[in-house]
Amino acid sequence: ETVEVIQRELLDWYREHRRDLPWRKDKDPYRIWVSEIMLQQTRVDTVIPYYERFLNQFPTLNDLANATDDQVIKAWEGLGYYSRARNLHSAVKEVAANYGGKVPDELKTISKLKGIGLYTAGAILSIAYDKKAPAVDGNVMRVFSRLFAIPDDIARQSTRKKMELIAEHLIPAHAPGDFNQALMELGAMICTPQSPHCLFCPVQTVCHAFHEGLQDELPRKKKA
Ligand code: ADE
Repeated sequence: ETVEVIQRELLDWYREHRRDLPWRKDKDPYRIWVSEIMLQQTRVDTVIPYYERFLNQFPTLNDLANATDDQVIKAWEGLGYYSRARNLHSAVKEVAANYGGKVPDELKTISKLKGIGLYTAGAILSIAYDKKAPAVDGNVMRVFSRLFAIPDDIARQSTRKKMELIAEHLIPAHAPGDFNQALMELGAMICTPQSPHCLFCPVQTVCHAFHEGLQDELPRKKKA
């Protein structure tokens, strides 16, 4: 079955090749949350030192909840997109005040927090809580559009919805967080936007784009 092949190959590959990133040291939902917010618009290499410094300054959710706005903005300095920091701070204060300091583990609840969209919710639920939640970002959209030769414009919301359904179908119940991160990692390291490294790809044998020689044509983005 293709689904099982994809699950097994991706998980095996990830376990052998995963980068040792600071937010992969444990499954603390607060730490995963901070990492996913920082990674939304900023590259991994840039995020690492900021992440380390931020977590040294605010090691727990309550530390961040008790910080002043100025302290948080100062700690975010250099990362840009400061609304991310303001939303995170505000959401963390809400979790401290209304959820006893425990990051919610239900999609319905966690998505109501400021700054947490479907992607971030899925990343936190799967990585920190082992829930079968899709976490479809740009990397994952690119991987799926090639793996299944999906010609749809990835800028469209309907395409994202389609990809989320595919993800729900693919995520294994036994390792949803590793599987989601394997997809992100594949998109970052192998299934890159330009010149993907198909010869090193763990799912090459089941990749429709590779078989049809379409890896450089996909994903399709509507011209502006
Ligand atoms: N980009 C977004 N989330 C990530 C994660 N958990 N690891 C690596 N890159 C990411």
